[in-house]
Amino acid sequence: MNREQTITGVICGTGACVPEKVMDNNEIAQLVETSDQWIRERTGVARRHIAKKETTVSMAVEAGRQAMEEAGICPEEIDLILVASASPDQVFPCTACRVQEFLGAVNASGFDLNAACSGFLFAYNTAQAYISAGVFRTVLVIGAECLSRLVDWQDRNTCILFGDGAGAVLLRAQSGRLYLPAAHSDGTGGSALTCDGTAAIGPGAENAGTSERKIPYIEMNGKEVFQFAIRKVPQAIEEVLEKNHLTKDDIDWFILHQANSRIVDAVARRLKTDIKKFPMNLQEYGNTSSASIPILLNELNRNGILNNGQRIVLAGFGAGLSWGASILEWKIPEK
Ligand code: COA
Repeated sequence: MNREQTITGVICGTGACVPEKVMDNNEIAQLVETSDQWIRERTGVARRHIAKKETTVSMAVEAGRQAMEEAGICPEEIDLILVASASPDQVFPCTACRVQEFLGAVNASGFDLNAACSGFLFAYNTAQAYISAGVFRTVLVIGAECLSRLVDWQDRNTCILFGDGAGAVLLRAQSGRLYLPAAHSDGTGGSALTCDGTAAIGPGAENAGTSERKIPYIEMNGKEVFQFAIRKVPQAIEEVLEKNHLTKDDIDWFILHQANSRIVDAVARRLKTDIKKFPMNLQEYGNTSSASIPILLNELNRNGILNNGQRIVLAGFGAGLSWGASILEWKIPEK
């Protein structure tokens, strides 16, 4: 196939929504033994947004609405809604169907995808595959999370890291260059970062039916995850560049999953690339899992930092273990 000129999904609009309530590090220090200084030094996070009245669905809808508005399209034009989430409000109906209802996207089908913090990247790749195959033309891709519900607020190893929010991009089919992604999973490393589901509370679970039953929370071996991220993310970026016959110098921005500023710094160092090409906003939001990449993309877009023609690498990593990188060209239509 000629990958130079074919049908590809181009981002025509972005959006984001975070909860109103801001929780800073000092507030967390009232819950567990920690300090603002420790959290900032080890993670780069200063504050995060925590859902009170907001839900995964409500934030996904708002982010999707903004992306649609910027793209200048009506809800009826959307063919597919993909929501990446590890923290949906309900097991079913899926978040994408709720979003479809609230947006009035009557012609869209929709489904959710869970690849934890790699979720947005994997959903973006799925959308691109559908578009380049000619199956769908207009796809809304959303990453939305209410991780605060899955966090053990007595565990200082994890509760300092995460935040809630949603981000979205609206992709439309256009002729252009098709970039191949790098995407990986390694289930053998899965125990490093887990959050049990219904099996932990079902009738077969330990202490089922008693007040002793285990409430599913995020559990993590921080050091293992850290080492995994700084080893695998640079490899995935090198791989995606090679696959697409590009070099690091052809890339204007590296938009990484926003988990920890030390991870982003280490990746930039390993790639011998200027840290200025690695924008970060995790200080404001913490790790919002599948929402972090589209929230950052939206912020850069709305602040006029991205220029048409620029090439961007998106790179994600997280539970699974899962990781990968994708390339896109920024060509948002002039307003
Ligand atoms: N506040 C204060 N002290 C803390 C603390 C906290 N919130 N959490 C841990 N500590 C203590 C530890 O108990 C330990 O004390 P000790 O030396 O007396 O035993 C010390 O600080 C160092 O802990 P350690 O776990 O080695 O810290 P670290 O430098 O590895 O940082 C993380 C911990 C979690 C910040 C870091 O491992 C990390 O960011 N990992 C990746 C996590 C991630 O990104 N997950 C999501 C991926 S999608």
